[in-house]
Amino acid sequence: MTYEAAEAAAQAIGEASGREAHDVGLVLGSGLSGFVDDLPGAVAMATADIGFTQPKVVGHVGRAVSAEVGGTRLLAYAGRVHAYEGWDLSDVVLGVRAMALAGCQTVILTNASGGIGAGLQPGDLVAISDHMNTIGRDPLVGENDDRLGPRFPDMSTVYPQNLRDVVATAAAAVGIEYKEGVYAWQLGPSYETPAEIEVLRRLGADMVGMSTVPEAIALAHMGVPIIGISLVTNLAAGIGTEPLSHEEVTETAGQARAKFTALLKDLIPRIPLA
Ligand code: HPA
Repeated sequence: MTYEAAEAAAQAIGEASGREAHDVGLVLGSGLSGFVDDLPGAVAMATADIGFTQPKVVGHVGRAVSAEVGGTRLLAYAGRVHAYEGWDLSDVVLGVRAMALAGCQTVILTNASGGIGAGLQPGDLVAISDHMNTIGRDPLVGENDDRLGPRFPDMSTVYPQNLRDVVATAAAAVGIEYKEGVYAWQLGPSYETPAEIEVLRRLGADMVGMSTVPEAIALAHMGVPIIGISLVTNLAAGIGTEPLSHEEVTETAGQARAKFTALLKDLIPRIPLA
């Protein structure tokens, strides 16, 4: 069922976009959707028309866009579905599974996060070096579909070094300091308490957020390498002194828009394709 739904979505994307296949996928996090607004050769598709669940969070736009960035065929989703909305994780990961079946050889997962690691500041763009799933949910629970991947997928190189090197090269080219860190997934929608953040800090987390990890697991299952880019929109609870708010998250994302766009536009054509 899941495989068929992802395959049907991939086919609908091919038909709606007029592009037979795509090379790179991009999922845009909170406040970062504007990236798709000015892409060359862009074809916008309503995600409802291609069989996706509709995101329900303010600031999350349900659009899929096909475009070409420096010769690379890009399939981008402006907005994603989150587990905290109440969806089953198989719904949360349907979109990235469709990306893989649409031909994407690498998927860029972006998100907004709270900064935990020393030296991280709001506005920083951080490459995800690894992630932590501490909440006990996994999109692969249930019967395994061997067409997607193996029952027990390896998770030791989800964010491969060679792709992080490409991000570092792109960051240098556009004049952004390269940083990397470990991203911890929290279910949300409540933000964390200072005690919870202290636990995550001691476990080695640098950023915390409510997305990305389910998609990363589903893509790793299918053997698709990932570039993770996290925009630190606030200091995590207890790291800073300010109360957390979604407005702060979207405001910081808006301020970082130019930097984020420059990095992605430089990065996407650099991603090696088979
Ligand atoms: N915690 C969880 N998710 C987030 C945060 C945070 O501090 N900032 C942006 N998304």
